[in-house]
Amino acid sequence: MPKRNGKETHASSLDGMLGAMEGRAYRALGGAFATSFYITFKNLQLYSANNINVRQTLGQVMSNTVALLEESDDLRLSAARNYLFVNEVRLRSGRGGFQNFGLLYTEMIRRGVGAIVLHHGIIEEEIENLLMIMNEAPNGEDADGSYIQDRIQELGISTIDVETYVDGEMEVDLEDIAEEARRASINAYFRAIFLMRDIYKEVREDKKLNVRILKRVVQNMVDIVAAGDYTLMALTRVKNHISYLVNHAVNVCVLSIWLGNELGLGKVAQEQLGLSSLFADIGMACIPEEIAEGKEKLSDEEWAEVRRHPLIGSRILLRSGRISEVTIRSMLVAFQHHTHADYPELVPLDRTDIFSRIVTITDAFDAMTTPRPFRQKPMSPEEALNSLSDDEGGRYDPLLIKLFVNTIGIYPVGTLVKLSTGELAVVHRPSLEDGLVNRPLVSVISDAQGDAVENTILDVAERDSGGSFLREIVETYDSMELDMEITDFLAVL
Ligand SMILES: [Fe+2]
Ligand SMILES: [Fe+2]
Repeated sequence: MPKRNGKETHASSLDGMLGAMEGRAYRALGGAFATSFYITFKNLQLYSANNINVRQTLGQVMSNTVALLEESDDLRLSAARNYLFVNEVRLRSGRGGFQNFGLLYTEMIRRGVGAIVLHHGIIEEEIENLLMIMNEAPNGEDADGSYIQDRIQELGISTIDVETYVDGEMEVDLEDIAEEARRASINAYFRAIFLMRDIYKEVREDKKLNVRILKRVVQNMVDIVAAGDYTLMALTRVKNHISYLVNHAVNVCVLSIWLGNELGLGKVAQEQLGLSSLFADIGMACIPEEIAEGKEKLSDEEWAEVRRHPLIGSRILLRSGRISEVTIRSMLVAFQHHTHADYPELVPLDRTDIFSRIVTITDAFDAMTTPRPFRQKPMSPEEALNSLSDDEGGRYDPLLIKLFVNTIGIYPVGTLVKLSTGELAVVHRPSLEDGLVNRPLVSVISDAQGDAVENTILDVAERDSGGSFLREIVETYDSMELDMEITDFLAVL
């Protein structure tokens, strides 16, 4: 076993208990367990139990539980002294994982739960029941976890024990955590934008492409997406910031990671997918800028130039230095991400790399919803999703399209909307109610008179006492149409 530094001594004292698994691997597995546990808990607020997202993340909870139970007698998830523990191992924040650990901690404490103990022989249905009960359990100062304990007992579940939180203090402020998550998303997004700006500049100057420099920020994004924070997704509504190509690359990256996560890809695969997405259009760097950035009308010769970007891009990647799995997959994506009839036909869609099939969709969606010199009024997300779904040319993987439409929704977070009551707002979160895809939560920017409004979240699914909806979304805009500054946009996310 490798020598540990001082900080690891606590984990190493557990070696006997943890069997063959090293402390670090155990901690990673514990983190994966807590993350999947929290995400499923949240998913159950949004979707019914048979929803594909719920089934998928619940499956992850189950497999993580089984793996952890192989290492010890019981699996004990506990909240104490501001931290989450899996058995005696404290879960550490690491690359952005802080959000769900902190949020899960808070959700447990708010319900008066100090620990949840899972025993050998537990089955998926029992975990599902536990999470549903946790969702319906009262929370607040008086909660002592007894509701959850009682319901578990009523259902005759003997593989789960719930312990009351004794300290009783609310140590983590939910608002702070949400704010931290929001800030992490904004940082990651703009860091990626600035790195991509430099990369485009360097490639134009004929310097070698530095793939590795983006690894860290993509890892951050993968963690943020896994934690279920919507800010990063909302930021993909920022268009043409710095330049079309730079902004487009980052948006495609975020959308691809999001779709990859929905698809159930593992973290490493998601990282590779994110990196590949950033470089999909890198070949555009070698095409005269006024053509690449788009002008009102391109001549036939200029279009022919543009159509070379997949080939040029894969060449740039090939020359980027060490050939790794990431470079190879990026080359594939750069080469294959256009399935239009006017690009050379490569291999049949069902034999195209999965990353390429994902990027073909996210790339087309972001391009369609972005104002360009030749298309001042971009498609609304709804129009773009319809156009993708119609897919008469058979360009897109139908299953991925379905998943993408479900993930993005008719009104993606970050979309500017006008309400029937006259307010202007930004879509904040998908509806908390199942099936109400056209009724998200929105953050209001201005009232019916056009006066600025702060800190007001409205639920478009809200009904009056007679059961009729109070408001509808009547129109969507893009931020350029309204001359909206990015800072104003960020303020309402
Ligand atoms: Fe492209
Ligand atoms: Fe593109």
